[in-house]
Amino acid sequence: MHHATALAHPNIAFIKYWGDLDPCLRLPANGSLSMNLDGLETRTQVSFDAALPADSLSVNGQEVSGAGLARVSELLERVRQRAGMRLPARVESENNFPMGAGIASSASAFAALALAASHAAGLRLSEAELSRLARTGSGSACRSVPGGFVEWQAGQQDEESYAFSIAAPEHWRLVDCIVLVSQAHKLVGSTEGHALALTSPLQAGRVADAPRRLDICRRAVCERDFAALAEVVELDSNLMHAVMITSTPPLFYWQPATLAVMRAVQAWRAQGLPACYTIDAGPNVHVLCPEEAVGEVASRLRRLKGVKQVLTVAPGGAARLAG
Ligand code: PMV
Repeated sequence: MHHATALAHPNIAFIKYWGDLDPCLRLPANGSLSMNLDGLETRTQVSFDAALPADSLSVNGQEVSGAGLARVSELLERVRQRAGMRLPARVESENNFPMGAGIASSASAFAALALAASHAAGLRLSEAELSRLARTGSGSACRSVPGGFVEWQAGQQDEESYAFSIAAPEHWRLVDCIVLVSQAHKLVGSTEGHALALTSPLQAGRVADAPRRLDICRRAVCERDFAALAEVVELDSNLMHAVMITSTPPLFYWQPATLAVMRAVQAWRAQGLPACYTIDAGPNVHVLCPEEAVGEVASRLRRLKGVKQVLTVAPGGAARLAG
């Protein structure tokens, strides 16, 4: 039996990935940039074992079959082919954050799976190779392989499409205040969402302008320029949601409380409080602020109507093997 356990953090994108050039390989339509989320993590154990009848998967102690297992088996198959072995695997994955609590678990899940499975199979992959492998399970998972502030270069083919760190977690004490307004499970997952992106007439414009936004964002992170970061992060999130709501069929992820948080954050920033929002494929809002402002920002957020919970999260490190 060959086994390994790995841990990975989820990440929040400052510049979003939305839409694929190649949905099978999950080559993205545009480059993206994110921050890993410290304290939140997925721990995944992979055991390749000749005694097993087939691949199996449990997530937080619950057996998973069907499409969820098939997606994991696909990544395991890539690993088996590369390692030249055929053993079935048992995968056991645990998140220390609640599923459906508005924090995407697929990024941390596939980053941890790529690291644990490749190691268990005897492969010793470079960070870029691991990032590419994680990407095939969930695009944004490639950004959970390196640590801190991470850029995913889009690339035109598999070899060119991976993520790398542009700054360590200690570089900038930014905080992500994760504002939970709904615990409901999302209606349309991101894999389906990416496939709809090109049905929006706005996607071409969003993608064409993405390199410019990425440059501004990268510079803002490197120079710790919060004012510049705030403008480009909100613009990028608004552009992605404009594409979502103008797709066929349209995807509306916001709840009334989502918009209330967005408007409050904009008003506070206009008054001089450094904070900005970004929203993924769901109703919850990520409010970014420098560490000095987190006390004020989080307490104001908690007083807003419709806000159920606020988690405050610092920049996190790279995916790693346990023990
Ligand atoms: O990796 P996926 O397929 O779950 O897509 C992630 C999509 C967003 O979270 C909305 C944006 C992003 O870049 O993380």
